Amino acid sequence: MASSENSTTPDSSYVILNELKGLTLDEVYEKASALYNEGRISDDDMQAFGNAVVTLNKVFSKQEQHHAFVRQATLEDVDAVMDMVSFWAQHGQNLPRKRNEIIRGIQTFAVSVLDDKVVGCACLYVYDSGLAEIRSLGVSPVIQRQGQGRAIVDFLLKRAERMAIKRVFVLTRSPQFFSRVGFTRTLREKLPEKILKDCENCPKRDCCDEIAYIHDIPSRMV
Ligand SMILES: CC(C)(COP(=O)(O)OP(=O)(O)OC[C@H]1O[C@@H](n2cnc3c(N)ncnc32)[C@H](O)[C@@H]1OP(=O)(O)O)[C@@H](O)C(=O)NCCC(=O)NCCS
Repeated sequence: MASSENSTTPDSSYVILNELKGLTLDEVYEKASALYNEGRISDDDMQAFGNAVVTLNKVFSKQEQHHAFVRQATLEDVDAVMDMVSFWAQHGQNLPRKRNEIIRGIQTFAVSVLDDKVVGCACLYVYDSGLAEIRSLGVSPVIQRQGQGRAIVDFLLKRAERMAIKRVFVLTRSPQFFSRVGFTRTLREKLPEKILKDCENCPKRDCCDEIAYIHDIPSRMV
């Protein structure tokens, strides 16, 4: 057997036959059906062909559906942000926030929106020292691992850069995610602002399982 036949992705799988070039998927399907009706391709091959079309449709419709984007939150998003924060707080991933706290800090929030629905949120909280924290980050379970967490973090990091903030930190139980989006691990003790603000009233203050991550923001070129 030739080595290319042993490979899981043989070169030939990327070659489009000349006679298929420029045809729409419908036209290719019609061509295959015609061959099948003439008895020139087998039941199995026709089945495989149908499956391939279904797969292509699924992949493309996934792209079509997910036009999520990140924007500044408004007061109209308060209920959705509240629901998202409460949901992840109940799962122990975020601190709960009061509704009036979200309203007062609405300008600090960004939301990720899909089909007019909020599917993610986070805020950038600035401490007196000028250090900032990404808080209340959460993405809906139905759209996880599709880049929205990263998109929200990038949006807030750009906002921090515009505000000439030099460092952004998080305390998290999702360390792999923050490593992937460019944060580096640090010691919680190096973040006195956080410890003074939220930690002192936290029931887990003596057995904290959150990991601190920081991100240094390069100075703006202009
Ligand atoms: C953490 C969270 C916001 C990530 O959002 P997401 O939309 O699923 O993440 P993304 O798709 O943007 O992932 C960005 C990268 O991180 C990686 N990643 C995300 N979650 C990960 C995990 N749990 N373990 C390992 N890697 C992970 C992705 O694979 C991706 O890597 P890549 O770009 O190199 O392929 C989301 O899982 C969430 O809402 N979790 C619950 C709430 C929470 O933990 N909030 C953080 C509190 S500080």
